[in-house]
Amino acid sequence: MPSISSVLSLLGFAALALSSPAPNKRAVTVYLAGDSTMAKAGGGSGTDGWGNYFPYSLSLSVVNKAIGGRSARSYTVEGRFDEIVKLVQANDIVLIEFGHNDGGSLSPTDNGRTDCPGAGSETCQSTYNGQTVTVLTYPAYLINAGKAITAKGAKVIISSPTPNNPWEGGTFAYTPSRFTTYAKSAVASIGSNAMFVDHGQYTANIFQSLGKTKVDAFFPNDHTHTSPVGANTVSKAFVKALLCGGGGFLSGSVKNSTSSVEGACI
Ligand SMILES: *[C@@H]1O[C@H](CO)[C@@H](O)[C@H](O)[C@H]1NC(C)=O
Repeated sequence: MPSISSVLSLLGFAALALSSPAPNKRAVTVYLAGDSTMAKAGGGSGTDGWGNYFPYSLSLSVVNKAIGGRSARSYTVEGRFDEIVKLVQANDIVLIEFGHNDGGSLSPTDNGRTDCPGAGSETCQSTYNGQTVTVLTYPAYLINAGKAITAKGAKVIISSPTPNNPWEGGTFAYTPSRFTTYAKSAVASIGSNAMFVDHGQYTANIFQSLGKTKVDAFFPNDHTHTSPVGANTVSKAFVKALLCGGGGFLSGSVKNSTSSVEGACI
């Protein structure tokens, strides 16, 4: 027969278990999904992705799941969004940024990354690796991922892609790509648990104010992949965009004040 005290401690334990809101609750985690411009050491030697610097500005834990060479399509097809959907818990945040590998043409050769052109539910039939595959549009891939993530009670931030070096032609030139528009429309379709951050425009603005010499030095190998110092600047541009919009889902979790971060709100 169990002793009175062991029964009491069992009861106490049961009461504790009942009163705790979620047994496996852990601190809010931010997952990053993107390509080399966000990934660790993205884009070869001497370069880095901005996702490696973003954690310095946040009081939350950040898991960088960005991988070089990926597009909204290949990240989906490889099951990488599925993996994040499995990992997320309520109130976690998934930051998604694609575009650098989503363009191009499905014919004559499908590289496995190019999306079906279009902003909606269009589909393309293609041949990849000897298989006939149905390819979706960029917004469709992100809407599918975003809906699966928000169905678990987590939140989604979709941002516009980083600019290629806007000084490469000698004078400053930045025109947002169609992926900026697509990222916005994907957010609108996912609903109120998704938000858009114009990372591309904020980065371009900071690159403009820094000038050609400094920005050229951020791109040691090509016009897409930044040096570690450049990646830190690209991360700060994201933080500025976030703060200028009131912080959104990361409100209260950014270490920095709006005025302490370089750049201007737009
Ligand atoms: C925010 O503050 C932290 C800690 O001082 C710093 O490491 C980080 O670079 C800052 N972020 C921005 C965007 O200025």
